Formats: sequence, C-alpha cells, structure tokens
Amino acid sequence: MDKIVVLDFGSQYSHLICRRIRDFSVYAELLPFDTPLEEINKMNPKGIIFSGGPASVYDSGAPVPDEKIFQLQVPILGICYGHQIIVNNFGGKIKRANKEYGSSVLTIDSDSGILNGIGDSVRAWMSHGDEAEDVPEGFEIIGHTENSRYAAIANKQKTVFGIQFHPEVVHTEKGTEILKNFVLNVCNANQDWTMEKFVENSVENISKVDGNVLCGVSGGIDSTVAALLIHKAIGDRLKCVFVDNGLLRLNEAEEIENMFKENFEVNFTKIDGQEQFLSKLNRVVDPEEKRKVVGEEFVNIFTKFSKENGPFTWLAQGTLYPDVIESGVSKGPASVIKTHHNVGGLPDWLNLKVLEPLRDLYKDEVRKVAKIIGVPQNLLVRHPFPGPGLAVRIIGEVTKNKLDITRIASKIVEEELQNADLYEKVWQAYAAVGDDKAVGVVGDERKYGNIVMIRIVDSIDAMTADWTRIPNELLEKISNRITNEIDDVTWVSYVVSSKPPATIEPQ
Ligand code: XMP
Repeated sequence: MDKIVVLDFGSQYSHLICRRIRDFSVYAELLPFDTPLEEINKMNPKGIIFSGGPASVYDSGAPVPDEKIFQLQVPILGICYGHQIIVNNFGGKIKRANKEYGSSVLTIDSDSGILNGIGDSVRAWMSHGDEAEDVPEGFEIIGHTENSRYAAIANKQKTVFGIQFHPEVVHTEKGTEILKNFVLNVCNANQDWTMEKFVENSVENISKVDGNVLCGVSGGIDSTVAALLIHKAIGDRLKCVFVDNGLLRLNEAEEIENMFKENFEVNFTKIDGQEQFLSKLNRVVDPEEKRKVVGEEFVNIFTKFSKENGPFTWLAQGTLYPDVIESGVSKGPASVIKTHHNVGGLPDWLNLKVLEPLRDLYKDEVRKVAKIIGVPQNLLVRHPFPGPGLAVRIIGEVTKNKLDITRIASKIVEEELQNADLYEKVWQAYAAVGDDKAVGVVGDERKYGNIVMIRIVDSIDAMTADWTRIPNELLEKISNRITNEIDDVTWVSYVVSSKPPATIEPQ
C-alpha cells in the first residue's frame, strides 16, 4: 500500500490533510514532526507533507524535521508553517508579516505540478503570521496572492513544493485537487487504500495473534466492528464482554444483548454493573474524575472476568484515529483535550497486550468496514455514544432523577429526528441536564424544574462539529414533548456552540 507521511507541526488542521488524502483512496498517516528519519524511511513513503503550525521558524526551539529528510529523494509539500520550513531550509528568508486570516485570491503563475488544472485563480484559505520574503535558489513562484508574493513555490527538479495557504480546509477552492496533484501526479501514489483491503489485511494480521482475546463491547459501532474483525480472524479465541454500567441510554442494554445474540456468533457475556458504577459515582461532580471512576470500574469488572474466564493474552479495544490524536498519544504537539478513557488507559493492566484494529481509521471509514463485514443497518446509523455514557452528559452529580431526565429527553430528541427523517443526517443528538433550575407554571402553580439542553451537531469525524440548524417547528415539538412528558423539566434550551471552541459532549 502506498503511503503519504504527514508531519504534524501543531496546526489545528493537520489531521484534515490525512482526511482529504484518504478520501481519494491513498493511505496517509499523521506523525509527530520529530519522528526519527529511520522510522519514516521504514514506512517507505511516496511523499511527505509538512503541516502548518503555530510557531515561527525563527523562534528558539521552533519545531523542525530531521534535516536529512530533504535528502530522501521523496517529494515534499510544505503547507503554511511547513512552507516556511522549506523556504528557510533552502536558504530563502522569512519575515514577520501582518497576520493574514481568511480567504484570499490565489493567482496561478504556473499551472503545472501541484497547481496543474487549477485554472487562473482560486480562493485560498490563509492563516499565518510569518511569510516568505524571497524564494530560495532553484525555486520558482507558481502562485501569488495580493499580500503574499510567494504564496506557492516549487522546485520541480527536486519535487519540493511550498504553499502558504491551506488546501486541506474546505474554504480553499479546489484544495483537494491541489493535494491530488501532489499525491497522485508528483508522488505517483496508487489509490489502493480501500476498506475491503483494510479488512483483508487486518484479518490476516490479527490471525497471527497468540492466545485468547478479551474484548469489551459497548454496543457502539467501534467496539462491535473491532470484535467482528477479530472474530473473523480467530473465532472463539475471542470472548466479548458487555457491561451494563447504569449509564446507558433508554433500553440500550437489552437492545445490545439482543443484537449480539440474534446477529453474531461471537462468544458474548453480559455483566450487570449498574449498582457498582452508580455507587462509585455517588457525589462525584468533576468530569475527569467521573471518567476516572468509570474507567476504574471497567478495569475492576474486566479483571474479575478475566481471572474467572482466562487466561487472556490480549485486550481488544475499538480505539479510533481521532481518539489517538486527541489523547496526545500520537506524541504530536496537539495537546490532550480530554482523557478518553479507552485510549492508552490500561497499559500495565494484567499484563495484557492491547489490540486496537481500528486505531488507524476515521469514523466514516469504520462505517464502511462495518458494512463490508455485515453489521446490521440499525447499528450502522446509531449515533456515537461516549464510553463514560450519561456520566458526561449529566453536569454535576449523577443522580437517578437526572439519569431518568436525560434518558427520556434524549429518546424524545431521537424519535422526533427520526420522524422528521433527520436522525441519520446528523452526527449526534441528545439531551443533557445539570443542576440549574428555572421557574415554570404548571396548572396554576409556579414550580422550579430542571433545564434540559438539547445538543444536535453535524460533523464528519468528531474533530470539529457545527450545531445543526433544525427547523424551529421541530424544536418546538421536541421542547413541548419534553416539558409535557417529563414532570421535572420546565425549560428546554438548544445549544448553539460549535466545536471548537466547545466540544460535542458538555463535559
Ligand atoms: P468531544 O466531546 O470531545 O467528543 O467533542 C468527540 C467525540 O468523542 C465522544 N466522547 C467520548 N468517547 N470516551 C469516549 O469513548 C469519552 O470520555 C468521550 N468523551 C467524548 C463524543 O461523544 C464525540 O463523539
């Protein structure tokens, strides 16, 4: 499989570069900027891309790649800060400029190489403080904007390119075409990253694992797909455990048990841990503490199961690529945003080795894999749900009353979206609740009731998200049903914050 390596210099858009490239069926992987050259070499990349980043090449300690990377004879494309690294490395100059943020018109000066077929001009997304002041010897200007004379440069002989704008951002017109030109025409990479091939390779790789594999399944698509892939490879050496932690959606535990028993032939055990989790969460209000408690209880339950049903050699997890990036375990400059408990959380536990067959995949890629291996349609379209469940959708202490409110209100949100044919079009939709109360009038009486927050978002991979503009009439219907059907709720609000700066979950 041909590979493109993207070195991460800390831009919020770094992961999008991989995303766009994989969309046209070439495998791209994000690596920390200081990945040793031998490791990059081992991957035998067809091309290397330097991402943008917040630093200035003249800062002390500015991130730079191993300088021998330029001798690899592999095509290189630098984006924004990556462009400045290239200019600086080949002897050009960088200067501080007025910050340029937003869309500019890029005029194409040479429509060959990465700008082949792009036309005379396109709108390009800029987000930078520094800029090139001149170009290094051997480079030509292939594109400019009003403010940046050297917005796109090329040394076609060395196949090194630098662009000041961000082709990976949707606001750049023909940005994907520019990346395609680099990856397909300059690097000559084959479009051989297909999910069919992924399934074939994973099953082959997993079949080499020794001993028994323990897999915690949540009923979500990630752990289900991970389990089914492993089952395909090693059959009954896989044992799946599903824990009802008391933090699941309405009727979810029964639905998951039925789904596994009716559809799959995997070895499946359900454990009722409701009491255990909820008593440990008693009076815990800090979200990270909640995650820790939930994580620890999972460990306790799995430890017991493993002692009674082992020995196991492997613990399987449905970790995805965005979890890996967001948890900071990719060692890139992206900082830890939340401790997703399912990533890197159990390193020494019971000496089990961790098997993460999906850790290179984005969510939509997992959906494609799910389809290929026969996951039922209703699970395929089910929205993602966080591992710590309703504990992170309930702000403040997790109480029985707040659990009931979120469960019923979320069910109403889901039902109404389904009725309006919108459920499958949005990324996630739920109702959250906290301790804030608002006054309402019930009959002739004033009463204080809970405020429910409805969160519905659009997203492609959960790394960014936009709040969904649903019709007012639908909001009204949801709101009416929630206040009518749940005694304790007086107010319903709609969350209109996007990610960033917000996150999808309230905690
Ligand atoms: P945020 O809230 O970080 O969510 O924008 C991004 C995606 O991750 C899910 N999420 C979690 N999943 N453990 C999980 O397994 C967690 O602690 C966790 N927190 C958030 C969230 O539902 C969304 O899909």
